[in-house]
Amino acid sequence: MLRVVFLISGQGSNLRAFLDSCAEGMIPATVVAVGADSEAPGLDHARHFDIPTFVEPLERGGDRDEWGTRLGDRIDTFTPDLVILSGFLRLVPPSFVRRFAPMLLNTHPAYLPDFPGVHAVRDAFEAGVTETGASVIVVDEGVDTGPILAQRHVPVVDGDTESTLHNRIKIVERELLAHVVRDIANRETAIEES
Ligand code: GRF
Repeated sequence: MLRVVFLISGQGSNLRAFLDSCAEGMIPATVVAVGADSEAPGLDHARHFDIPTFVEPLERGGDRDEWGTRLGDRIDTFTPDLVILSGFLRLVPPSFVRRFAPMLLNTHPAYLPDFPGVHAVRDAFEAGVTETGASVIVVDEGVDTGPILAQRHVPVVDGDTESTLHNRIKIVERELLAHVVRDIANRETAIEES
């Protein structure tokens, strides 16, 4: 079983879908811990499954490298094979990336390289595109610039709001993430050092 640590910042609906799929035997992985940068509501999904949680905040004006080291030390106590950022809204420092990459994934609500950054859905919506998408990438030291492991387009439909569009994108994000982790666990996808 692939040991996974998940990091979130908010509702954790992608985390919940991942946990449900693991519980149903659809993904040969076990989430060994869920971390957050604040007391995120999504941590309750981990508690529901009796999975350990931890919170490692980056204080205002705090040193990002030191925070990254603390966060990494917390993660390492769970000896994960893979770390997944999904809805984790903090930029991790390069030292953190070097510590965990390439087994460090991020889900992103756009068809990269289009619309990187934390406002990807809003940016796509305001740009008036007719389709955007979802991507699963390996985290590198840039902002959403790492190797793309899977991605799919999602159409923008009449009547969409940023929120309805994001909800449809998240459904695709969850499918892509499940697919990627399944392939890694089954060794059908080899993630190379970049
Ligand atoms: C996802 O779209 C993720 O890619 C983005 O934030 C959303 C997280 O949603 N960065 P949730 O917390 O899993 O509900």
